[in-house]
Amino acid sequence: MDLVARDLAAVWHPFTQHALWPADDPLVIDRAAGVHLYDADGKRYLDGVSSLWVTVHGHGTPEINAAIGAQLERLDHSTFLGLTHEPGIALAEELLRVAPEELSKVFFAGDGSSAAEAAIKMAYQAAAQRGEQRPLYVHCAEGYHGDTLGAVSLGGVELFHATYRPLLIETRMVSSPGVLEPGQTRAERAAAVLDEMRALVAHEGSRVCAVVVEPLVQAAGGMLTHDPAFLRGVRELCDSSGAAMVVDEVATGIGATGRWFAVEHAGVSPDLMVVGKRVTGGVLPLSAVLARDWVYDAFLGDAPSNRTFFHGHTYTANPVCCAASLANLALMHERGTVARAAQIGERLGAALRPLEGYDGVAEIRRMGTMTGIEVRPVGARTGFQVCRAARRRGVIIRPLGDVVVLMPPLGMTDAEVDELASVVDESVREVVA
Ligand SMILES: Cc1ncc(COP(=O)(O)O)c(C=O)c1O
Repeated sequence: MDLVARDLAAVWHPFTQHALWPADDPLVIDRAAGVHLYDADGKRYLDGVSSLWVTVHGHGTPEINAAIGAQLERLDHSTFLGLTHEPGIALAEELLRVAPEELSKVFFAGDGSSAAEAAIKMAYQAAAQRGEQRPLYVHCAEGYHGDTLGAVSLGGVELFHATYRPLLIETRMVSSPGVLEPGQTRAERAAAVLDEMRALVAHEGSRVCAVVVEPLVQAAGGMLTHDPAFLRGVRELCDSSGAAMVVDEVATGIGATGRWFAVEHAGVSPDLMVVGKRVTGGVLPLSAVLARDWVYDAFLGDAPSNRTFFHGHTYTANPVCCAASLANLALMHERGTVARAAQIGERLGAALRPLEGYDGVAEIRRMGTMTGIEVRPVGARTGFQVCRAARRRGVIIRPLGDVVVLMPPLGMTDAEVDELASVVDESVREVVA
């Protein structure tokens, strides 16, 4: 039996409608090198979404592979519950070095969702242990923080989240800062959503333990970008109401926006910051919550006080994942990868500018390397068709509904960025122009 037949017989894929998948020509990826993926027939594809927004330098980075190999030889795994190890300690130090300086402690998790979940519980428990009952969360429409139930509670993408509403924790959702009314500027939108949030907090502020936002780009919501003033307003609102500002940098963090973290564009420092995806360079799963002292301190007490954060996973801070991350971050410093990401973004933006004139393109949104091309007609699998046309031309990209998403690896050369842009241009023209 060939691999596709075996897949169809045995596998259930994430975010995949299996009634359609067999007819959608499933592609078997066999190997990868640099910014390319190779299918089982040896055909080469440019990895235009960095394997779901994670690949940093490229696939098969020798320095990361060597660090993984060395760590496997020394210590493959040991629990982080009540024990510690050097790669975990060093990675915590390194993450704090690149993060906003007010963040002072690192709690490790596995995927973005599990780190978001930890942050959600931390905010509630910290408030409770400071003597405040704050069971309510504030979040934004079109937000996405992962697929565990806490993260879904703070999600705002109807398609993904509506089904689970009866199961979810109590929240209040404000409008998306990135979805503009006709004629509205991004600055006006930010101000309007902040007004909404202020009215909500005036009413329920003492019950709100956290305001949870994706900084500058609501990625899974369709690469919806917003004005940095929004984040500054959220910071002020959290300061005045005593809620924690939780910023989810899973998609934006570790360089994608052309800064280490998106909050830097706004000059804002959160109380809790969630990171994931690119941390290991795109090789192994690892995520983390970075916390300010006041959150961490709320968990200190003697054993009978029960102030412990009773939360963690079997593979929390797996040393091999930590070693991969350390190698990735060291290379990012050495190669100036964050500044390079900003250049890649500018180059991609310039190369895609002609698409803005096509009838079938409603809008192009970009923040650093994170790019969304909204195509129409909507609801006709137009985004999917553009990605399929790109695949025929040797480029892998993935749509979010009718938004064609580009998220190049941060190690792409100029020539590869140009190739990505020109294939996307041709593919959009083939389908919609
Ligand atoms: C902002 C944000 N938060 C959380 C997640 C969930 O991360 P994971 O898929 O690793 O669980 C994602 C995934 O795309 C994300 O974009």
